[in-house]
Amino acid sequence: MYDVYKIRRDFPIFQQELNGKPVAYLDTAASAQKPSAVLEKMHKVYTEIYANPHRGTYYFADMITSAYENARKTVAEFVNARKASEIVFTRNATESVNLVAATWGMQNLSAGDEVLISQAEHHANLVPWQQICKRLGAKLIVFPVADDGSFVQEEFISHLSEKTKIVAVTAMSNVLGTIFPIKEIVKAAHDAGALALVDACQFAVHHQIDVKDFDCDFLVFSAHKTYGPTGVGVLYAKEHILKGMPPYQFGGDMVDTVTYENTIFADIPARFEAGTPACVQAIGLAEGLKYMQNLGLADIMLHEKQLTAYATERLTEVPNLKIIGTAKEKGGVFSFDIKNIHPQDIAFVLNKENVDVRIGHHCAQPIVNRMGYTSLTRASLGLYTTKEDIDMLISALLKAEKFFREN
Ligand code: ALA
Repeated sequence: MYDVYKIRRDFPIFQQELNGKPVAYLDTAASAQKPSAVLEKMHKVYTEIYANPHRGTYYFADMITSAYENARKTVAEFVNARKASEIVFTRNATESVNLVAATWGMQNLSAGDEVLISQAEHHANLVPWQQICKRLGAKLIVFPVADDGSFVQEEFISHLSEKTKIVAVTAMSNVLGTIFPIKEIVKAAHDAGALALVDACQFAVHHQIDVKDFDCDFLVFSAHKTYGPTGVGVLYAKEHILKGMPPYQFGGDMVDTVTYENTIFADIPARFEAGTPACVQAIGLAEGLKYMQNLGLADIMLHEKQLTAYATERLTEVPNLKIIGTAKEKGGVFSFDIKNIHPQDIAFVLNKENVDVRIGHHCAQPIVNRMGYTSLTRASLGLYTTKEDIDMLISALLKAEKFFREN
């Protein structure tokens, strides 16, 4: 039985009130709050076994090396990778996409080639591709989504061509909430002779990932969104593709032998992890994933599905509010506009009511513009979100709407 009130007790940040009132944290799409299990694990590592991994021969060094490599195994199991060596720890999902663009892209893209992305990509899965295309004379092709934010199969297919070298798409839009049919997208990309990269930043927070089932070539996500710490992210890549890619950064731990004249690089995944890694954060990341697994991904999904339905319904009570992104296949992200009220003003009132939302372009300016706006207000759900959080949002929105309409 999924007891959200009990689950909330795992999150120290929710044990406080602000100005004598509880806080409705509705910005999990930007970053998730952290359970004690993650915080305690990281504290334990720093206080009991901390050293630099892969380098020492003493007890602490052995302990941290195994904990770091076990974290890699946990991530591999979480995404259902074939091998732990298919998991590279990066700084975040943005760095993971940059790594692929700068290594695989540099090696495989040239003038006339195409990179295909959706209109709904956030900057992390757009700007790295745009920039590598500019540098190499390749073309960034963008397939449109429908006015309600839905994926349109025909649009996707008609933008795929023999020139497409890679399709890079989000599994769940951080603005529209749309869930993209990743399996079909990957299959179509492969049929066209292209590779496929999946941006699972939002999807990983709410859904079971299975890279074998997706058959994707690359998949990325950030720990801070999956209830883990900041500073660490994941790149999954199929073994044979990763093995064929040149290094991203150069330095310690990514080498086999070094002379003044030359360097022989280490095998994967070390080849892509130059310098001292964010090992404690990686262990924290694994703990966040275990926390989600212990609650049960299916139960988390069900909880959020019920809340999504509840929030969708309750938002209709706010006059002049329009939800942007109403695809049938949609997760717990609500971007909206209230006619004639600037999101900044909405956020001002919401902040006074302890309702935390994000406003602006959500690091996805092109899709916000494509939907006809320069700025939107966004509420997003997490595994700890309650009906009461939604109720607080609605009553704060009703207050804001009434105030600005009358003044
Ligand atoms: N991409 C993150 C968001 O959606 C930061 O807010």
